[in-house]
Amino acid sequence: MTPVAMVTGAARGIGQATAVALARQGFDVAICDLQPTAEPPDTIRSIGEAGRQAWYRQCDVADRAQVEAFFTETIARLGRLDVLVNNAALNIRKPLVELEVEDVARVWAVSQWGVFHCSQLAARQMIRQGEGGSIVVISSVHAEQPYARSTSYNGAKAAVNQMARTWAVELAPHRIRVNAIEPGWTDTPGERTFYSEDQIREEGKKLPLGRLARPDEIAAAVCFLVSEQAAYITGSILRVDGGIVLPR
Ligand SMILES: NC(=O)c1ccc[n+]([C@@H]2O[C@H](COP(=O)([O-])OP(=O)(O)OC[C@H]3O[C@@H](n4cnc5c(N)ncnc54)[C@H](O)[C@@H]3O)[C@@H](O)[C@H]2O)c1
Repeated sequence: MTPVAMVTGAARGIGQATAVALARQGFDVAICDLQPTAEPPDTIRSIGEAGRQAWYRQCDVADRAQVEAFFTETIARLGRLDVLVNNAALNIRKPLVELEVEDVARVWAVSQWGVFHCSQLAARQMIRQGEGGSIVVISSVHAEQPYARSTSYNGAKAAVNQMARTWAVELAPHRIRVNAIEPGWTDTPGERTFYSEDQIREEGKKLPLGRLARPDEIAAAVCFLVSEQAAYITGSILRVDGGIVLPR
């Protein structure tokens, strides 16, 4: 039986790299993103090249009804769910004094409630199946490092870390492991909307390892956490940050 993974926000960046890496590990992969009709062709093609099935549905993880539909259709098409990767997130970067209430509400709806909706439905499905499973939350070093202009994002990431640890306790009797990854600064299309090529290169040189992370390096950590090699790891927060939080 082919194991099935679900990755949210997988049209690009870390989510895309993770979906493709999981396919290479033998998973059929259900992916969602905000794009309306067309499938994200790069992700779908790469999963196909790995010899696995992929299917895409437009889904805003902040919207419970859309998430429920995504889950229902995933089970109908792929038959089961073994791994959930909560990757989709949103940051609205403004100082505290300039934030609108709507900004904060939207960031929390996607980055915190989205993780709740997907994880709750995944846990229910995995418990029904009775064969364990693995849930990974893509958090951030922002959960611990209070970088400025990210009030709602930092708060959401701290919250999802603690939610993941709570679920690790609750779901351990069902052999469902729950872990979080805190990426450091990673070179994704999302980051490139904020920084130029020159800034990415020059600021990267100042990091301990001299560069930003690549999305596939975060995906590799996901593959480890969902693998048998990590069978005894649950409730952990794994930093994959090139030492960005170390004193310099
Ligand atoms: N890039 C970094 O430096 C970095 C650092 C730490 C943590 N992270 C985390 O890694 C994850 C991925 O980040 P990235 O840099 O690849 O982002 P990105 O912006 O490049 O890609 C995110 C994808 O998620 C999708 N998405 C956004 N909101 C969604 C929603 N409501 N429903 C479904 N899909 C949605 C976007 O359309 C996009 O395709 C996020 O959880 C982010 O917080 C990133």
